[in-house]
Formats: sequence, structure tokens, C-alpha cells
Amino acid sequence: MNAAVRAAVRRGWELGLEPIGIRRGYAGLIENDMTPLTPRDVGGVIEYGGTFLHTARCPAFLTEEGQKQALETIEREGLEALIVIGGEGSLSGARWLAKQGVPVVGLPASIDNDIRGTDMAIGVDTALNTVVWALNRIRDTALAHERVFLVEVMGRKSGYIALMGGLAGGAEIVLVPEVEVSLAQVAQEVSAGYRKGKHHSIVVVAEGVTDQLGSTHKIADFIRQETGLEVRVTVLGHLQRGGSPTAFDRILGSRLGARAAEDVAARRFGHMVALRKGELAPVPLSEVGRKEIAIDLALYELVHSLGK
Ligand code: F6P
Repeated sequence: MNAAVRAAVRRGWELGLEPIGIRRGYAGLIENDMTPLTPRDVGGVIEYGGTFLHTARCPAFLTEEGQKQALETIEREGLEALIVIGGEGSLSGARWLAKQGVPVVGLPASIDNDIRGTDMAIGVDTALNTVVWALNRIRDTALAHERVFLVEVMGRKSGYIALMGGLAGGAEIVLVPEVEVSLAQVAQEVSAGYRKGKHHSIVVVAEGVTDQLGSTHKIADFIRQETGLEVRVTVLGHLQRGGSPTAFDRILGSRLGARAAEDVAARRFGHMVALRKGELAPVPLSEVGRKEIAIDLALYELVHSLGK
């Protein structure tokens, strides 16, 4: 996200805008916590994960009172346009603001990659590379001890990180909320791998699967009981949400941020700037939401055929 803010500020200045950074997202809008940003203020930020403006889950923005305060800040401070960077929650906030007549441009940022209208969101590639980094290390110990490893990754209701991380990391099995499987099937698949001469098994578990199958530890207990193999669990958690962004993410953030500033300067509003087939494209905020199926089912087949 830092790359996007940097690009929006620098391109904005070039186009005669006066960028202001709002700290902690909608919370900062409600509490009037903001600061002018010059091109020098965004120096040296591109290599850092997260956002130097900070961010926040903001339940207050879902209340009438909070929304009223946010609109008042926009009015009082004379903000002429807003660039909102975030996931489905932030973008539905942007959609609401647009409906109230606020000039808004949205940018997709969520490691879950479940935002409808865009092929990729800021942060996805960095998170995926962290998953691959972790799987490489876990495989060493899995192989040495001939163990089964369950690696739980983030993604909320989306199996994107699990599937793509599993594919890139050479996992044997990937469990995603988009595809229903039984615990018995998972245990059978693991056993089948060992019978075919494998000395380990890596099962990537999307956190959203635990609604269907129970916790990752419960899945591990079942596999242990059914197969008699040694099973271990690693939960990657917030490791996936930090670290120096990959080149892909820096380029994506820079392109999106610059385009958002260009749209503001040209007074084009009410859309999210999306990445579609490698090109930037505006998608009306009214069409932006959460993708019900965030994965390519053909790739789900592929990861399992390659993991056999
Ligand atoms: O939506 C992004 C995400 O990282 C999800 O993958 C994860 O479930 C959630 O946020 C974690 O939220 P928090 O950092 O608030 O615990």
C-alpha cells in the first residue's frame, strides 16, 4: 500500500493536486486525523510492507453516527476527493460514500484476492511469496522426519492464497472453502501418497475451511488417527501480512496509485481502478463486492494432479 500512496502523492503533485494522507483509514476520517503529504513525505516508503499511514478495522464507520462524522470531516476540511485503498470492507465504505455524493476512487488491496472486478489486489503477491518461503522450510523438516504437515494460511472465505501458494510451493493437498471434501478423503489422499513412495505430505489449509472441517488441529488429529503417521500443524498467521513487498506488488501499487491521482485530476470518480488482463481498468464501485468463488477450479485440479 505504501507504493500506492507514494505514487498517488507524487503523481498528484505533478498534476497540481494537494494530497492529504488520512491516518488509520475511516477511523482517521471520523476523527479528523490527517496530514498534508508532499513528494518528500513519501520518500523511502516503497520497500516497506503495511502502510505508513496506519490502518484500522473501523466498526464506527458502520454506524450512522460514525458515517455522519466522516461526512462532516470531508465537508469541514474541504476534501475534494477521496482515494480509498483496501479490501471489500473498505470498498463498500467507498461505495457508500460515493452514493452520498463524495467523489471517490477505490484501489483494491487485500491478501485474500477476493475483490470482484479485479484480477489482482495489492498485497496478494507478497503474501503468496511468504507462503512459498514458509513451505520450502517446512518441507525440509517434513522430509527429514517423514511427517505430514498441515500449514494453515489466511484468506478469510477465500482459498486463493492456499491454492496459489500450494501450487507454487509444491503442496500435496490444498483444502479450500470453495471445494467441499471430507476428512476421510483427506486422510485417504495422504495415505495414498505414502503408499506411492512419498516420504512426506504437505497439506495447505485455507483458514476458511475450518468452518466445514473444524480447526486445523482437529483435521490433524483425524489424519493422525486414521493413518498412524506423525502430523504437525503450522499456522502462518500474520507473517503473511508483512515484509518487504515483491516487485510485482510495488509495480501494481505504483500503477494503481498513479492512475487514481490521474482520475482525481480529471474528475473521474465512482469507480475502483482494477487490474484486468494486465491492464488498468475502471470498474464502477456499484459492481465491486466479494467474489463468491475466488479461485480457478482448473488450478485446484492441477495442484492435486501434480501433488500425487
Ligand atoms: O482480509 C485480510 C485478512 O488478512 C484475512 O486473510 C484474515 O482472516 C484477516 O484479515 C485477519 O484480520 P486481523 O488482522 O484483523 O486479525
